[in-house]
Amino acid sequence: MKKRDHFQRLNVDHLLRNHKLPEPVFVARPTMPKLADYCEKLTGIWERRWLTNDGQLHRELEHRLAEYLGVDHLALFCNGAIALMVALQTLRIDGGEVITTPFTFPATAHVLHWNRIRPVFCDIEANTFNLDANRIEQLISPETKAILPVHVYGTPCNVEAIRKVADSHGLRVIYDAAHAFGVRYKGQSVLTHGDLSMLSFHATKLFTTGEGGALVCQSEAQKKRIDFLKNFGIADEETVIGPGINGKMSEFQAALGLLQLDMVDEEIANRRNLAKSYQNGLKDIAGISFLKDVPDVQHNYAYFPILVDEKNYGINRDELFALLKLFNVHPRKYFYPLCSHFSCYSSLPSADPARLPLAERVARQVLCLPIYGTLENGIVETICNILMKIHEEHYLE
Ligand SMILES: Cc1ncc(COP(=O)(O)O)c(C=O)c1O
Repeated sequence: MKKRDHFQRLNVDHLLRNHKLPEPVFVARPTMPKLADYCEKLTGIWERRWLTNDGQLHRELEHRLAEYLGVDHLALFCNGAIALMVALQTLRIDGGEVITTPFTFPATAHVLHWNRIRPVFCDIEANTFNLDANRIEQLISPETKAILPVHVYGTPCNVEAIRKVADSHGLRVIYDAAHAFGVRYKGQSVLTHGDLSMLSFHATKLFTTGEGGALVCQSEAQKKRIDFLKNFGIADEETVIGPGINGKMSEFQAALGLLQLDMVDEEIANRRNLAKSYQNGLKDIAGISFLKDVPDVQHNYAYFPILVDEKNYGINRDELFALLKLFNVHPRKYFYPLCSHFSCYSSLPSADPARLPLAERVARQVLCLPIYGTLENGIVETICNILMKIHEEHYLE
């Protein structure tokens, strides 16, 4: 097969006539409970006149979430970024260096910066896109305080290898588990690994409270410290035990969370079916690859990332991204640009693209396709078909 030359490449008018989706389909869409059920919860809030600060719904959600996720200690937050800020303060890490991945949402690196910590970027693995545990050791310096890996797209990091390297150098491990709601590894919640794990319940996440998040910790004492820190350090009416922040989740968020929790098994099951449809529909398209399910992992199908290899597919990721929008398909380039490209970090020695070859390649090729519980299977089939037709169109037989 031979590639068409550039001026022929982006003309898809005839395909649009047959394959354009009638409505825009975005990368994520929250599955909402019945409005009447939310109103019933609101009625309770109105009656109690208790809007935040460890309210009844907050306590109920904390308890039920810990039970659902299979963890012993969980503290709710107003969002995931503040939860991560508090995670660092909980472990008294507020300076030095922390080893992390550049292939993540900006929050991961920014919370380090806000705690006066220098991020040290580590390259990623080709098969999971997670921080490569085999490369951590060479980045450790006398300044290193902790490792902050991300379970990217919900795929667990190499938790055993990370623990081993952390233990042998006396380092803390905080997982950014923003994507890993409900993920299990070897029969256990992935959130049981590391000193602390952060969850995000942002509107784009499969379990959402609009804005929201949580910290999972390993002891009652840690949970107590977290609870102080997320409420300005206030221990009682006249005692402030330290410089805390306002990280509290409100009753309105908790009310949505309780209703979401009743739907989350079905949400994950629907996503699993959609992921299977994508896997089937994309497996024979040259130049498109996707992550395989990992043995021992119960995935949550939070995202469906593909890699676009221009040489074999015919056009590059950015061209495909622009074309798909014409078809009313709105994927996202999670995670492009890399955090190491941001002007606030790009002058760090560890941000040198030559040191991050895999992260650089994946960031150039990745595209997250729409996936959410209420997405119709037929739409996924159409998206796969569009990807196939675009590929065929950009090659000459
Ligand atoms: C990997 C990652 N870390 C951190 C965050 C920040 O979470 P939040 O938006 O809840 O503050 C997000 C997403 O929103 C994320 O995807």
